[in-house]
Amino acid sequence: MSNVLITGGAGYIGSVTTLELVRSGYSCVVLDSLEKGHAAAVPKTVPLIKGDIGDKNLIGDIVRTYKVDRAIHFAAYSLVGESVASPEKYFENNLEKGARLIAALVKNGVKRFVLSSTAAVYGAPAVIPIQETHPPAPENPYGVSKHCLEWLLNSYHRTHGLEVAFLRYFNAAGADVQGNAGEDHSPETHLIPILFQTALKKREKVYVFGNDYATPDGTAIRDYIHVSDLARAHILVLEAMGKGLAHQAYNLGIGKGYSVLEVLKAAERVSGKTIPYEIQERRAGDPPVLVADNRRFTEAFGWCPRFEDLDEILASAWTWHKSHPDGYNDKDPDDSL
Ligand code: UFG
Repeated sequence: MSNVLITGGAGYIGSVTTLELVRSGYSCVVLDSLEKGHAAAVPKTVPLIKGDIGDKNLIGDIVRTYKVDRAIHFAAYSLVGESVASPEKYFENNLEKGARLIAALVKNGVKRFVLSSTAAVYGAPAVIPIQETHPPAPENPYGVSKHCLEWLLNSYHRTHGLEVAFLRYFNAAGADVQGNAGEDHSPETHLIPILFQTALKKREKVYVFGNDYATPDGTAIRDYIHVSDLARAHILVLEAMGKGLAHQAYNLGIGKGYSVLEVLKAAERVSGKTIPYEIQERRAGDPPVLVADNRRFTEAFGWCPRFEDLDEILASAWTWHKSHPDGYNDKDPDDSL
């Protein structure tokens, strides 16, 4: 069994994937700055190194010490709105440091690399559902930073034989199936945690960003995929690498879209609470509709999401938020970005 470096393994999707990897018998090491991540989200049996993905010497040390032969790269800033306001943060953290990480891994002999990528690489797509062949046209700096990393990895694939896969996530939702990790950002900007924080009366109301989109109820539509389904997808890709998997981009979504108001109503059903809301202006950088065509992945890997029902996905998130009303409770709100 191989040794996997997981950058950003203390974050939301990274920690759930680490848990699934450990359950599948992989030996893992997590590198995380803990600026956004949570030490408590990393399983106790997994070494957690607090450090910078752009520190080439550190990466070399980790590869040698833990005999790392493959990496999954989650560590990144990932807020669309923030990236529009501060592009330089995204280009420095995601792109420059990501490029240094990849160079150091390749130099130290790592041959397989899975990139946590995003539907944001498609911008505002011309055709829904979106196929991987849709021309990328990211509209915000977050999407640009991820798409640049994809290009960079394509080069390493051609010149150094690095085996790569880009997993373009749609909207991750829910919590670890065994309840050991969940969604907690500081500050929180994601719809589902905000809905449940409102249900728990931690917030007065939810602001719905825009009701003038060309969608049936005017609010934006997203494809919500359970985070444990996302995690399992990474394991399938890792297992296929070394068995001739060509480098590829894959969409990871369930292939169904729900509007903000539909998600809000589902959150009310699941929690049994009324969730007050107010309509606001659209949020900069938000496309109207993002729904995946996931056939490339389902056909290549025989994968199908275990969670396809929105209420079930939200129920998993609600269980976690009820038991963690303050999240991991390990950040000073004044220190958060
Ligand atoms: N929304 C609200 N009110 C809120 C929060 C969100 O109306 O308080 C809306 C957003 O405008 C959007 C939808 O709910 O239409 C989902 O928003 P999220 O912030 O939960 O997620 P995003 O779609 O913005 O972002 C997700 C990932 C990003 C990724 C992006 C791809 O978190 O990393 O999908 O576009 F880049």
